[in-house]
Amino acid sequence: MPVYEMTAYPKTLELDGESITIMPLRAEHESALLDFFLRVSEEDRFYLKEDVTSPRVISRWISELDYDRALPLLAVNEAGQVVADGTLMRSRAGARKHIGEVRIVVDPRYRQHGIGSAVIRELAEIAHETGLEKLVAEVVDAPRSRAIATMQALGFVQIATLPNHAKDVAGRPCDIVISELSLGRWSEWWQMRR
Ligand SMILES: CC(C)(COP(=O)(O)OP(=O)(O)OC[C@H]1O[C@@H](n2cnc3c(N)ncnc32)[C@H](O)[C@@H]1OP(=O)(O)O)[C@@H](O)C(=O)NCCC(=O)NCCS
Repeated sequence: MPVYEMTAYPKTLELDGESITIMPLRAEHESALLDFFLRVSEEDRFYLKEDVTSPRVISRWISELDYDRALPLLAVNEAGQVVADGTLMRSRAGARKHIGEVRIVVDPRYRQHGIGSAVIRELAEIAHETGLEKLVAEVVDAPRSRAIATMQALGFVQIATLPNHAKDVAGRPCDIVISELSLGRWSEWWQMRR
């Protein structure tokens, strides 16, 4: 797997009149990243795969940074606060080597401004340029979540549902939805829109 050259970053975008800079996670972001996860609601954190409010978890991410395995891209506002964290995960194992997984969380105060979409697009571009063929996203279909709709608006297609596989915050069963983005087709479509 080629090591991705990070020369494109930091990259600043104007989104709804605010400058948002996208950059890979580095050691100096540790406390800003922890502060960010503490601003995400308990309900949203409930559906994530790791306990992101644990300083030990964040510290492990930082000490084990390996962009070829997990590439976290941060979106940072003009005040230096982290407002989104999106990660591209890859498997080194043979059968899954061509597939990447994306995980994304946006600060609730910064949602619906295109930041989540912008970070996913960056991750998709990196994934495509480094030879991945597909991206998958695994989302708990929780009440009030717009995540599946947002992924679909970006071109992800729902490929599987694991019925009643998860539980919502109230303990009620809910589905896990797996969506896929085919990077060859996405890339052509995206280049046309630019
Ligand atoms: C899912 C999530 C990442 C979306 O982040 P976001 O920054 O709000 O995403 P965007 O702003 O790019 O898009 C969200 C919606 O706002 C709309 N939007 C984008 N820019 C906009 C703007 N300037 N004005 C108004 N609406 C806008 C988009 O069209 C999209 O609409 P849709 O949901 O109907 O498709 C965010 O809600 C989140 O962090 N959820 C909790 C964690 C989660 O579920 N993650 C997914 C697991 S992979």
